[in-house]
Amino acid sequence: MRICVVGSGYVGLVAGACFADLGHEVILVDNDAQKLADLQSGRVPIHEKFLPELLTRHRGQRLNFSGNLADAVRASSAIFIAVGTPPTNAGEADLSYVESVAREVACAINGYKVVVEKSTVPVYTSNWVRTVMLRNGAEPDSFDVASNPEFLREGTAVTDFLYPDRIVLGADHERCAALLREIYAPLTGGSYYSSPGAVPAPQNAKIPPPAIVTSAKSAELIKHASNAFLAMKISFVNAVASICESVGADVHQVCQGIGSDSRIGPRFLSPGIGYGGSCFPKDLTAFRAVARECGYDFRLLDEVIRINEEQRQRFLRKVRSALWTLRGKRIGVLGLAFKGGTDDIRESPAVLLVQTLVHEGCAVAAFDPAAMDRARDVLSNDVEFVGDPYEAASGADALLILTEWEEFAVLDLPRIRATMKYPIIVDGRNLYHPETMKAHGFTYYSVGRQTAAPDLATPPATEPQNLKVKKA
Ligand code: UGA
Repeated sequence: MRICVVGSGYVGLVAGACFADLGHEVILVDNDAQKLADLQSGRVPIHEKFLPELLTRHRGQRLNFSGNLADAVRASSAIFIAVGTPPTNAGEADLSYVESVAREVACAINGYKVVVEKSTVPVYTSNWVRTVMLRNGAEPDSFDVASNPEFLREGTAVTDFLYPDRIVLGADHERCAALLREIYAPLTGGSYYSSPGAVPAPQNAKIPPPAIVTSAKSAELIKHASNAFLAMKISFVNAVASICESVGADVHQVCQGIGSDSRIGPRFLSPGIGYGGSCFPKDLTAFRAVARECGYDFRLLDEVIRINEEQRQRFLRKVRSALWTLRGKRIGVLGLAFKGGTDDIRESPAVLLVQTLVHEGCAVAAFDPAAMDRARDVLSNDVEFVGDPYEAASGADALLILTEWEEFAVLDLPRIRATMKYPIIVDGRNLYHPETMKAHGFTYYSVGRQTAAPDLATPPATEPQNLKVKKA
C-alpha cells in the first residue's frame, strides 16, 4: 500500500517508520525544510527506542521524506494527517493545521483516497475535514474521511504501535474500513510477528491485536475518553495517596489491594507528582471544551485537573516541611523529563517544580539522563546542570527525585549520603522503600506513605537494598 503521512512530529514519524516496517511504501511529508533535511541525513529528532533502527532500515527505501504534499497525495491511497493540534488560549484544540492539510489534499486528489485523522482531534473533526474538502473541489465519491487514533506512549511508541492492545478504525463506509483493515493486516493477521527483523514483542503483548471498527465519531471519542480515563486513574490514586498520608496508611498496599480487582487493574495507579507531557494536560482541557460545546458540563475532568495541579503544591509543601525555609538552600534534583525514558519536558511537573524552587530563591543542581539539553532551553541560567546524580546531591540540603528513571532507583545510597550536606530525600516518584532509606540514614519523604527518619541510635546500613522501580 502507498501511504502518505503528513507531519513528521512524534506521531507522524513513529507511524511512518512503523508502516514502512509493515511493508508499506511511505512518504512522510513536512513543510519544515530543516526537519526534512535532518531526517534525510539520518538525524533522529526524538529519543525513542527502536526508532533509529527502523529509520536506518527503511530510509530511502520504503520510507521517503518530501516537502511536496500534492505529489505525495497523488501517489498514495491513504493520507494520514499527523500534524499538531496545539491548545488555544481557551483550552480547545487548534485545528487550523488539520484544516490547511485537508484543503491541500482536496486540491491534489486524483482518484479514491482515504484521509485518516491520526492526530488527536475532537469529535466532529472528520465531518469538518469532509466539508473542507468538498468546499475545495473534491468530488464526494473521491474520498472518505476516517479516524484511526494512536495510543502511543513516549519512550515505548514503536512497540506500542506494533504491539497495540487494540487498533481502532473509525470508518463510516465499508470501502474505507476495508482499506484501513488492509493497512493493518500484517498486525491483525499476525504475519508481521513472524517476519525476520520484527521489533521484539514486549511482555504480555496481545498477538495478534484485535481491530475494532467503529464510526469515525466514536473513534474520535475513544481517543479523548481513553486519555481522560487514564489521567483520572492517576488523579484518583494521588487523592488516595493524600488520605494515606493523613491516616498513616501505605498507598502501595492500597493500590495492590484495589489493582488486583480485574475490573480496576494495576496499571496507571502509581502515585507521584502528577501527570504531565504533551498529551494528558492538553487532551483533558480539549475534551472538557468539546463536552461543553456538546452541552455536557464534564465537571469530573475539572476535578482530575485540579487534583493534578494540587499534587505539585503538596510536594512543595513536603519540601518546605523538610527544610523549613527555602531561600538560599541548595537543592539537588534528579529528573527533568515529564516521565522516565524520554527527553520530553513538555508540561513536565519536574520542570514546573524546579521553576518554583528557583523562584523561591533555591540554588538548584539538576541531572536528567536525557532531558538536559531541552531543559536548558527553558531553565537557562537559573539551574546548574550536572553530570550525574552524585554531583546533584553534592552539598545539597535536600535531594528531590522528580522523574521515574530506572537508574534513579538503583543509586549508591551510601555515596549519596556521604556527599550531601543533610541526608534528606524527597521522592516524588516513590522509587525506594522508606525502611531502606531509614536504614541508610536518610530522612525520606515520599508520596502516600509515612515519612521515614533514622533512629539516631542505629548506625546507617552500608549496602543499598533498593526496591525495583515501579513501571508507570
Ligand atoms: C499518553 C497515553 O498513555 C498514550 O496512550 C497516548 O497515546 C498518549 O498519551 C497520547 O495521547 O499521545 P504519554 O503522554 O507518552 O502517553 O505518557 P504516559 O506514560 O501515559 O504518562 C503520562 C504522565 O502520567 C507522565 O507524567 C507519568 O509520569 C504520569 N503517570 C503515569 C503517573 O503519574 N502515574 C502512573 O501510574 C502513570
